[in-house]
Amino acid sequence: MTSLDRKTRGRTSHGRLQSLDAYLLYQERELLTRSEGSWARAAFVDLGFGEHPWTTLESAQAFRELNPGLPVVGVELEPQRVESAQEHADALTDFRQGGFDLPLRPGETVRLIRAMNLLRGYRPEEVSGIHQTLGGALLEGGLLVEGSTDTSGAVLVAHLLRRVPEGLSREALLFHTDFSRGFAPVLFRDWLPRDFRRRVKPGEPIHAFFAQWMEAWQQAREAGPLEPPEAFHHSVLRLATRMEGLVTDAWLLARGYLLWKPPGGVFR
Ligand SMILES: C[S@@+](CC[C@H](N)C(=O)[O-])C[C@H]1O[C@@H](n2cnc3c(N)ncnc32)[C@H](O)[C@@H]1O
Repeated sequence: MTSLDRKTRGRTSHGRLQSLDAYLLYQERELLTRSEGSWARAAFVDLGFGEHPWTTLESAQAFRELNPGLPVVGVELEPQRVESAQEHADALTDFRQGGFDLPLRPGETVRLIRAMNLLRGYRPEEVSGIHQTLGGALLEGGLLVEGSTDTSGAVLVAHLLRRVPEGLSREALLFHTDFSRGFAPVLFRDWLPRDFRRRVKPGEPIHAFFAQWMEAWQQAREAGPLEPPEAFHHSVLRLATRMEGLVTDAWLLARGYLLWKPPGGVFR
């Protein structure tokens, strides 16, 4: 354990990270399939898989539809969780005990690290250091996904951080809902990543982002009653006229994904 790692509860559920898998398969195809040089055997690392390795196994299956030889490493701080996951290990799937200082073997490389629903027990001021530590394990071009969901995965918000030559870039924020809880921008507030969670207050940039989105949503609704998916879709299109970096890809919008890549990166 490093001085940052901390024991937390291990709750997880089947399908919880399915929408994130679908996003990555759509938007990060190259990341998942690159095979030149050190990328040939570069792994997907799922950090903090929880009491059961369900989400690790579901993602392994989903990503291997694109990349059948993808190595997958599930990492957990709790030795008992690692022990009980062993029955699912195979030639391409490993479960290891470890923390932010990833338990990689000599020569192993990493293309993608997912750390979902992990940092709730950590302090917001620790988050940047944790991102840096994890980002250090990625190949250049590799991605760190860190964020939160509700218990079923109906609402998700995540940081997308890219390893670039200068270090780790705060490339984007990803919001997703499946609309089972309806839609209003405020839906996402309680599921923000740890560093933003308690900062939706006047004067904070994340508050300004939500204020703009709320206004865009209200304007969209003034045009007439809209079902949640349409209200979401129109609110994002309107938001895109107010701020830079909103990705208005039709596939993403139709499925409840807001991807925001502000020029210069996501604020801290
Ligand atoms: C709430 S579960 C999340 C499980 C799964 N990722 C999900 O989203 O459903 C969080 C897990 O992260 C583990 N964890 C917390 N800090 C960790 C760390 N520094 N390194 C590895 N695992 C950690 C906990 O032991 C716990 O099992």
